[in-house]
Amino acid sequence: MEVVIQPTLEQAVELAGRLIAARVRAKPDLVLGLATGRTMEGVYDRLVSIQQSDGLDFSRCRTFNLDEYIGIPGEDEHSYRYYMNHHLFSRVNIDRANTHVPDGMAADLQAEAARYEHLIDEAGGIDLQLLGIGEGGHIGFNEPLSALMSRTREKALTPVTRQQNAAMFGGDPDKVPKRAVTMGVGTILDARELLLLATGAAKASILAKAVEGPITAMISASAIQLHPRCKVIVDTEAARELKERKYYDWIFQNEPEWQEFR
Ligand code: GLP
Repeated sequence: MEVVIQPTLEQAVELAGRLIAARVRAKPDLVLGLATGRTMEGVYDRLVSIQQSDGLDFSRCRTFNLDEYIGIPGEDEHSYRYYMNHHLFSRVNIDRANTHVPDGMAADLQAEAARYEHLIDEAGGIDLQLLGIGEGGHIGFNEPLSALMSRTREKALTPVTRQQNAAMFGGDPDKVPKRAVTMGVGTILDARELLLLATGAAKASILAKAVEGPITAMISASAIQLHPRCKVIVDTEAARELKERKYYDWIFQNEPEWQEFR
């Protein structure tokens, strides 16, 4: 794992956008795993502006989102399908048929989860998976005790998550769905590269546990420690509780892999 600390939120988001853009340029038919949440909005804005300024081409990309609420149709502004259309897909030259979000309205959710896994396999697996982190330590909607080998499935959301996401539901946690379909931790770890982005002081404590603490199913984000190609980009606020900040900075300043991004 490599941790890159950027001075500001804007710079962290900018770096994540540039890294994704570099991967799309290197492999135009990239299979991109996408995430939702407020942290990602800036990243999608960056991708839109890189497309406008440098003609970044998404026409051959395929995308798979991490998760979707159960019982909210794609046309509803609270769904993650709507979020993706709104923040990214309608603003870049991606073929909507190549974008995938689990169907939270499926009558048979177990079959939907299996279909989603199959689609990822058929696409040849995910090249780069973008991740945020919930305040309770989830990636996707893999709540505490999610098996580290779990696959796409239905999951009950914790009160912490429903509280954290209430802002998108008029501030009322009771309006946040109780369940979601999410890629499993195992599904996420199968991606060839992971990029986790965390910003702001509210993420500092859980981020330090996920990155420097023991690997535990209580904090599904800690499973990224198992991945051989994982990058974590944070701003100073989110990095506050990390112990090895100096070492991480040295790596970013000196390792050739980061040269084009410094
Ligand atoms: C939701 C998503 C997660 C995301 C999290 C972070 O719960 N299911 O994938 O990581 O939000 O949200 P935010 O970026 O708004 O803090």
